[in-house]
Amino acid sequence: MTLLQIYVAPHSVLKKKTTPVEGGVTDDLRKLMDDMLDTMYTYDGIGLAAPQVGVSEQVLVIDINQPKERDLSPEKKRGKPQFFVNPEILWSSEDLRIYNEGCLSVPGQYADVARSDKIRLKYLDYDGKTQEIEADGLLATVLQHEIDHLNGVLFIDHLSNLKRSILMRKLKKFTKENKEDMAKSHVF
Ligand code: NI
Repeated sequence: MTLLQIYVAPHSVLKKKTTPVEGGVTDDLRKLMDDMLDTMYTYDGIGLAAPQVGVSEQVLVIDINQPKERDLSPEKKRGKPQFFVNPEILWSSEDLRIYNEGCLSVPGQYADVARSDKIRLKYLDYDGKTQEIEADGLLATVLQHEIDHLNGVLFIDHLSNLKRSILMRKLKKFTKENKEDMAKSHVF
């Protein structure tokens, strides 16, 4: 397994719109998804989008079924990982759901964000097969958060200018204070 570096706001790669994967799901792409998943488990995430590891392509990994125990090794955190290549939202509900979101690219910061409670999604899976699913609850929230990443949007972009600038200031302070930890966690 290879641990990937996680890019933190305001890095420009997080603002860039990604391009769709062409040529289907190859072994190289599966290796990227496996590494992204290990990186996500290592840093206690439940979702990770390719731009967060500096890759400007439409690739996401999500696992919302990880065991609840704390301090598990990354290998033991594997619940039911899901892989999404070129995800496309076909429909989203008008009903909203509010969730207190965080992001590995905005470490230590959290805010309530309202998103559609239910979405219908088309994507390619780990084997390159086209899938269409309906997602609700936490999965719908995480998918919309991750698909935002593919469009260069962070959860803090959903907040008012005032709230966002307060969070960015806190993030700067957090990053400075945790510099050693962050350097340690950014292992390749
Ligand atoms: Ni995120």
